Amino acid sequence: MRRILLSICLLSLSFIALAGTIDQIIPKPQSATILKGEMRIKGPAIKCDPAMDQMSIEVVKKFAGKLSLVSGYTSSVSTPVGLHSVVDGGSAKGIIFLKDSSLDKEAYRISIGEKAAIIRANDQNGFLYAVQTIMQLLPESIYGKKPSTSERWALPCCEISDSPRFAYRGMHLDSARHFWSVEQVKKYLDVMAYFKLNRFHWHLSDDQGWRIEIKSYPDLTRIGSFREGTMIGRSFSSNDNIRYGGHYTQEQIKDVVNYAARLGIEVVPEIDLPGHMLAALTAYPHLGCTGGPYATWTKWGVSDQVLCVGKESTFEFLEAVLGEVAELFPGRYVHIGGDECPKTEWEKCPDCQAKIAELGLADDEHYSAEQYLQSYVTRRMQDYLATKGKKIIGWDEILEGSIGEGATVMSWRGAVGAQKAASMGLDAILTPGSNCYFDYCQSEDTESEPVSFPATLLIEKVYALDPFEGIDEDKRHHIIGVQGNLWTEYIKTPEHLEYMLLPRLLALSEVQWCTAENRDYGRFTESLENHGYKILEKAGYNYRKNL
Ligand code: ACM
Ligand code: ZN
Repeated sequence: MRRILLSICLLSLSFIALAGTIDQIIPKPQSATILKGEMRIKGPAIKCDPAMDQMSIEVVKKFAGKLSLVSGYTSSVSTPVGLHSVVDGGSAKGIIFLKDSSLDKEAYRISIGEKAAIIRANDQNGFLYAVQTIMQLLPESIYGKKPSTSERWALPCCEISDSPRFAYRGMHLDSARHFWSVEQVKKYLDVMAYFKLNRFHWHLSDDQGWRIEIKSYPDLTRIGSFREGTMIGRSFSSNDNIRYGGHYTQEQIKDVVNYAARLGIEVVPEIDLPGHMLAALTAYPHLGCTGGPYATWTKWGVSDQVLCVGKESTFEFLEAVLGEVAELFPGRYVHIGGDECPKTEWEKCPDCQAKIAELGLADDEHYSAEQYLQSYVTRRMQDYLATKGKKIIGWDEILEGSIGEGATVMSWRGAVGAQKAASMGLDAILTPGSNCYFDYCQSEDTESEPVSFPATLLIEKVYALDPFEGIDEDKRHHIIGVQGNLWTEYIKTPEHLEYMLLPRLLALSEVQWCTAENRDYGRFTESLENHGYKILEKAGYNYRKNL
């Protein structure tokens, strides 16, 4: 009798443990219902609908490989015909992936019974996110790289129906202030995919370094990817005098783009213009108002030295660069920056002033002639990129002056930019410093944290972002998403980079994925403590351990 009681206790305990798992998925699914029972996973047959595209089948094969490695049981993937009727007839066994054209982009459904797990989606990202959810229903060792055969490999019986709130779920990385290897960038993409992010905004040029090979302007990387030292800590007058550099070849860029595509992530490259261009000016001084000499910056901040936009040679340069960028990145967007462009040089430059006169620009009660000159540059780049099939994204400064139809605004100085853009009928992405700047410290006690930008962004503040605040109901469809930004002035090592990213990325993922009603900070922190940290641990990331 005691033994029977013990087994009943153990049984119900394992049921509770599994029931907990479904509540711990990050980001929380739209709807998830736990059922009685479980499906044991001992090298299950994995079958894909032959109607699935090749990239989706690759997603499943990668999962099967991981499951085989970690569980110690082999699972292979087949694509038999007639799967739908087997499933409809109720005789399915194993893990079955079905193409379901009635589902929305990125949506998926999972139905797990004791004999079969049926997964339905309509596109690669739908299958990918179903797999991510299944991974989170398995022991966290699934994220490891070693066999973990002592685990109990099972899935809880359940029904899940899920889709994202926002189409643009981004994370940014600054590779200009400090350079990140291809390997590190891929690891960054991996953790984004675990939590269903789908846009990687890659900041590739700035005052402190040019990081992307441009074949028609080779000195951008030969000269502009190096700086003669870096300021130490937060001391702007210091310099460690250690030459610093690094760049991505076009082959490496293609490799990252392909890697991201397999993770359902579109790469959004940023060439920041017409400010934040000192590295380019150092390589090609004729692009500046004064002709130089210039030196790639060794300190942080905003340089007054910007591109001279009074000269046609600058536009030749920009078109050559953006032309190569458009070729390398197959996504729909190119980010052209536009932030923090001081106008001090343009005010004094005969070429820039002649351009202002030629265009008939003048100060008015809203903006200066020089701000309108920047709008002209933005518009020209927008028109040029349109000939390559691309749309532009710009920081919210592109709203100053006049803005072209079809531009997407990235709102970083609060949400005002997004509110203004949406009211004008333009798409916007929220990245307000107050909730989305992951270069800020993760504690009020900034001295207790690694040296970072001297401000604080607590994880609860990330979670608290309401993307629709201040947006009229009939304009909300213009808010296409939310993004976290990780500027790397103060971040030099992969360990520090991951520490700043994690676990705030997990909070961000719920802002991007979950409806407002489905968000609950209490549930999120419990999931993080009991499950999220374990994923990060097993997958080998450095992260901040306390909430
Ligand atoms: C920015 O943080 N300068 C966009
Ligand atoms: Zn000029």
